Formats: sequence, structure tokens, C-alpha cells
Amino acid sequence: MIHPVILSGGSGSRLWPMSRAGYPKQFLALHGDTQTTMLQATAKRAQGEGFAAPLIVCNEEHRFIVAEQLRTAGIEASDIILEPVGRNTAPAVAVAALRLSKHDPEALMLVMPSDHVILNEEAFHGAVAKAATAAQQGALVTFGITPSSPETGYGYIQRGDERKDSNLGVYNVSRFVEKPDQSTAQQYLESGEYVWNSGIFLFRAHTYLEVLEKYQPAMYEAASKALEHSQQDLSFCRLDTEAFAASPADSIDYAVMERTDQAAVVPVDMGWSDLGAWSALWEIEEKDELGNVARGDVLLHDTHNSYIHADHAMVAVAGMDNIIVIATDDAVMVADKNNAQDVKKLVEKLKEQG
Ligand code: GDD
Ligand code: MG
Repeated sequence: MIHPVILSGGSGSRLWPMSRAGYPKQFLALHGDTQTTMLQATAKRAQGEGFAAPLIVCNEEHRFIVAEQLRTAGIEASDIILEPVGRNTAPAVAVAALRLSKHDPEALMLVMPSDHVILNEEAFHGAVAKAATAAQQGALVTFGITPSSPETGYGYIQRGDERKDSNLGVYNVSRFVEKPDQSTAQQYLESGEYVWNSGIFLFRAHTYLEVLEKYQPAMYEAASKALEHSQQDLSFCRLDTEAFAASPADSIDYAVMERTDQAAVVPVDMGWSDLGAWSALWEIEEKDELGNVARGDVLLHDTHNSYIHADHAMVAVAGMDNIIVIATDDAVMVADKNNAQDVKKLVEKLKEQG
């Protein structure tokens, strides 16, 4: 059995103003015409034969959104673990691993971000099946995506030799580098030796815990205490606030993956996209003959390669190329598509202004 563990703690600030701190992008149906939100799609992707009920780790503030979205999608979670404060992904994965290992230390956990699009589910399932043997043997398995640009927001994985003890197509990891700078990313891209880390992981609960205890003892300790003193409230497991807040905050990538020598990688072409910014959404959506994606009541003239979203009022654009316009009921955001990452800066400014 593989236990899906869904991480739903990000704020998705680069997809503002659709994505908000109180209602981040994983709870929205942004891609295609579907009504399915990214959280629901993530849970559905790991359902069926061989998969146990999912475990969700999210911020306490979002508990009702999560419970309601699972309910409407007909998904029953094994647990919804609530974080009183965000401590990034390494501690979030730790509490899930501790919880699962209580019943079965050998349990395999498939850690999934809640905000990705995977177009080819068959390829995804194939990769997970390939990874399972290596994970059972103690590897921390990552899933590698062929890079197409020197993106600095991703982890880069240098592929080593093919593993002999596993299925074909499973490699050792020579090096894992989280979010390299631009020139390093360019170098990795040109070398052809690196793949992007998809942010999805497969390992045994106790493999992760052993590695965490070795490299991040304070995190291990805080997660253990937070779970030990947690309170069960219907399907919610509330972590102890003081204990969890005492954990250092860091991502699984920096805290564990960059350090361990037990990492493995399964390269997979599965139509993966981390909808990190509006430009990424433009990339994967179907476009009209001028390269535009228009959602809602949109009127365009002499406009190309743009993403325009109108929630309520009509949005009309003339003579513009490569822009993003997002109009919701209380905010209008206009940005150059090449600077879509800067939306995060707008949100930071907003926060500063209170
Ligand atoms: N429960 C919980 N608690 N979830 C969290 C927290 C937290 O404190 N922080 C982030 N998450 C969730 C996010 O909602 C997202 O689904 C996932 O964990 C990954 O976090 P991100 O913050 O989106 O990470 P990233 O995009 O910067 O980097 C990761 O993903 C890249 C691919 O998209 C890394 O794994 C990179 O190496 C990878 O390339
Ligand atoms: Mg992300």
C-alpha cells in the first residue's frame, strides 16, 4: 500500500489576486474548464488500487476548506493534520511520517504538493510503481522532469548510475541542489546531466524519520512532541502549538534532500507543471490563434500571447502583447508576462501597507 501525503500549506502569492493567503491556489480550479480544484485533483490522482486513503497536512486556518473540498470530491482522508503555524515542508512531512509509522514503519509515503498539474496520469502511476522497489529498499525517491529553461525556483538533480537493485529507469542521485542561482542553473541545463525536482517524493516513513533525525534532530524532536501532544477533533489532528512552533522552519529539499546520500531519481515525462505563476498557466492552457488565453467576459483587439481573466466586469485590451490581466471582484492586476514572478513582490508590498 502506498499512502498519499498531500502538502497544502503554501500561500501561492504569485497567483494573486485569485490566490489569497486565506484561500490559496491549491483550493482553486485554475486549469482548463474543469471544476476540480488542484487539491481535489491531487487526491484523485493517487486513488484506486495500491493506494491507501490520503493524509493531508495543512494550516489550521484552512481546515474547513480542505474538509469541504474532500467531501465534495467524495474522498475520505485517513487524517487531516493541522499545523498551528507554518514551518515549511520538512516538519510537515515529519508529522505525516510519524503518524503513518505508528501503524506501520514500513509504510510507503507518496508526498505530493497540492498545487501541481499532471496531464499524463498513466505516466505518473508508471513512475510511482517503478520507484516503489527502491523506496522499499531505503531510498528517498524523487521524480525528475527534463528541464526546459534555467528556472531558479526548482531543485536540480544530477543523475548518477542506474540502480541495480531496482526496476529499470531508477537512478542514484549524484547531487541535489535546491534553487541554484541563474548562472548555475544555466550551467546545469547545458550539461544535460540534471533534471528538475518535481517536488513529489516516495519513501518509507521510517527512512525519512531516520534521515531527519540524523540531519535535523531539532525538527525531529519538535515534530515528535507536537504529535505526541496533539488533540484529535473529529477527523482533524491538531498539533501542539508550542511544540510545533519550536521546530526550525525549512523545506525537505534543503533540510534533507541536499544532504542525504540515499536519494534516487525516476525521470518521468508526465505533463508536469508547477503552476508557480500566471505565465506557467498560460503555457499549459489551450490558446486561440493569436496565442491568447481568455477566461470570462474578455474583449481583445490586436493583442497577442496574453493571459486575461475576468471574473465579473468585462475586460477589454487593445494593442498589447505578452501581458497578464487578472480582474477579480476586488482587485485588478496587470503585469508583463515575462515578469510574472514579480507578482509576489506586489503581494509583499501589499502586506507592508497592511
Ligand atoms: N503542510 C504544509 N506546511 N505544506 C507546505 C508548507 C507548510 O509549511 N509549505 C509549503 N507547503 C506545500 C505547498 O503548498 C506546496 O504544495 C508544497 O508544499 C511545496 O512547497 P512550495 O513552497 O511550493 O515549494 P517550491 O515550489 O518553492 O519548491 C519545491 O517544489 C519545486 C517544484 O515545484 C521544491 O521541492 C523544489 O525542489 C521543486 O523543484
Ligand atoms: Mg511550489
